Amino acid sequence: MPKAAVIGAGTMGHGIAELFAIAGYEVALVDVAGEYLKRALQNVEWSLKKFAEKGQIKEDVQTILSRIKPVVNDVCRAVEGVEIVVEAVVEDIEVKKKVFSEADRCAPPNAILATNTSSLPITEIAEAVKPERRPLVVGMHFFNPPPLMPLVEIIKGKYTSDETVKKVAEYAARLGKQTVVVNKDVPGFIVNRILARVNEAACWMVARGEATIQEVDSALIYKAGLPMGAFILMDFTGIDVVCFIGDAMLRRGFKSHPCPLIVEKCQQKKFGVKSGEGFYKYPAPGKFQWPEVPKSAGDRIDVSYLLAPAVNEAAYLLREGIATREDIDKAVKLGLNWPKGPLELADEIGIDAVVKTLEEWRQKTGYEEYEPDPLLREMAAKGKLGKKTGEGFYTYVKAEEKKLETLIVRYEPGIAWIILNRPERLNAISPKMVEELWKVLDEIEQMDYDKVRVVVITGTGRAFSAGADVTAFMGATPITIFKTSRKLQMLFERIESLDRPVICGLNGYTLGGGLELAMSCDFRIAAETAELGQPEINLGFIPGAGGTQRLPRLIGRDRAKELIFTGDRIPAREAERLGLVNKVVPADKLEQELRSFANKLAEKPPLALAMAKYAINFGLEAPQWAGMMLEAAQFGILFSTEDVIEGVSSFLQKKKPQFKGR
Ligand code: COA
Repeated sequence: MPKAAVIGAGTMGHGIAELFAIAGYEVALVDVAGEYLKRALQNVEWSLKKFAEKGQIKEDVQTILSRIKPVVNDVCRAVEGVEIVVEAVVEDIEVKKKVFSEADRCAPPNAILATNTSSLPITEIAEAVKPERRPLVVGMHFFNPPPLMPLVEIIKGKYTSDETVKKVAEYAARLGKQTVVVNKDVPGFIVNRILARVNEAACWMVARGEATIQEVDSALIYKAGLPMGAFILMDFTGIDVVCFIGDAMLRRGFKSHPCPLIVEKCQQKKFGVKSGEGFYKYPAPGKFQWPEVPKSAGDRIDVSYLLAPAVNEAAYLLREGIATREDIDKAVKLGLNWPKGPLELADEIGIDAVVKTLEEWRQKTGYEEYEPDPLLREMAAKGKLGKKTGEGFYTYVKAEEKKLETLIVRYEPGIAWIILNRPERLNAISPKMVEELWKVLDEIEQMDYDKVRVVVITGTGRAFSAGADVTAFMGATPITIFKTSRKLQMLFERIESLDRPVICGLNGYTLGGGLELAMSCDFRIAAETAELGQPEINLGFIPGAGGTQRLPRLIGRDRAKELIFTGDRIPAREAERLGLVNKVVPADKLEQELRSFANKLAEKPPLALAMAKYAINFGLEAPQWAGMMLEAAQFGILFSTEDVIEGVSSFLQKKKPQFKGR
């Protein structure tokens, strides 16, 4: 039986020993006192039983458990005949050095000596062993709890050989872990550095009175899609641990300014869940309960503001050759359970926007760590702005743009942008624009879901659209007006029945036919400066492209009458209150919001989106029972798709689904 040794039987140590035992190793588990070892084995047994209940281990609990051999205070005996030693003792350099020198003395000459340290220099630890052994000393950083967290960071010290890194990756794979390589022994490696930036940003926003704890956490959870908000996560991990790791990183040269709110909690010993109170209150010490964080709390928070410092850190790690872009993103996705890595997020936010945000941070705080990394500046200068230009940290299918007479059409990966482009006429909808919109919608519907999954319609200049072009009305006969009206109505119905979601971005005036167009979209996101209305009454006529039908359905009969009878323009916020727009954002953030919402929808199964859209749009027009039948039929049809298999199997395998629209 292959042999391994784990030194230190605390939370990390016993978890690592359990992994080796499951993988078929005989593991010597060492600690200074028998009682620690007894408790450790009880914990391992409990964890193994959980795995057994879920059918996740092949052997029975006692067989696996019997492979762990407790050893009291004798590193030398424990490491006899082992292939690998993993040290997980207290984070004290002297203690670690002692363990390493002892292990070096007694382990076979080719045994790997790994440390699970999260805060101490690997190189200094390596210097406690004989020079011949130093190439075999390496960092092997597990995440808590080791049996469940899928990631191991492998850290190279000054002496670590490539061969050792390769071997440790193989060991980790045998333990069922995925690995990333950290080429330089920087404090915090990858995951803790990125996490520290998010925690600091979150904390400083609150400390400076720019947001509340709930607002920040809500934005991180509901807008960025992180599994926990920064404050909940700190409470969950233990704020004492956050302070400890933060201090250690700071002492080793990590540029940062500890945020007073975190420091205060540590001084007050309000460590989070373990003490019953941290940033939130819990029912009892050690008892976690999700704090109340309403989804709407984060509405006004710009998540890119919270994430930009993490992106800056990731750019630093990449530029310095500390890790590859793939490993940086992978580490954060697996170690922190983010849906996307920081570099992938940066490409979505836009590198120019990230630089701008960091400059804002730098200026507000005066802190050097917010200075945009030279790599980001260089990318911004070269126009490598991320998804929107086809190249950022990753390469994307290049955005294609074409200019028609009245429209600009841009194809970005997954998103078609239709931009109304008659700014001098406030994007008034002319017969030519109607014709071009038809054509573009036809073109999009013919396209594969690989290319376009979501359509965004917005405008250039001061208006989304100030309505149908009234100059076309001059001298028209009742019958031509009737036909024009029908044509617009049919165009808007086409949007309602398009087989993919359409988002309207209301960048300014959204009046008359402009509002009627917007109401046919599946979602409306408005700039704070937008104004909406049906002003036709002021010209002596009425809305003729669906306004009298869609507006009452959206906001109710009497509110609709108020808008249509008075012809008044209302500001975006008022429209939001009435339910006429889904969301209002600062004008300079509109494009970013549209893109991030479109990208979110683009990850969903396209056929299911289409079916949901049909069931809602057509079902609502039918008696409820007919709508129900439609819903059931659409539901049934989806079970002929590959996407359903992908969705359900990914859920069971706890991985992210990749929908193809097939
Ligand atoms: N059809 C044709 N042209 C239009 C238009 C429309 N619906 N809306 C605006 N324009 C033109 C204006 O005539 C003006 O052209 P000009 O420069 O040749 O004079 C240009 O767009 C800029 O508009 P202007 O009125 O000068 O801008 P403003 O900032 O003073 O006012 C509005 C903006 C939106 C309040 C105003 O243009 C307006 O009320 N437009 C009509 C809205 C309407 O009734 N729509 C329903 C039509 S069915």
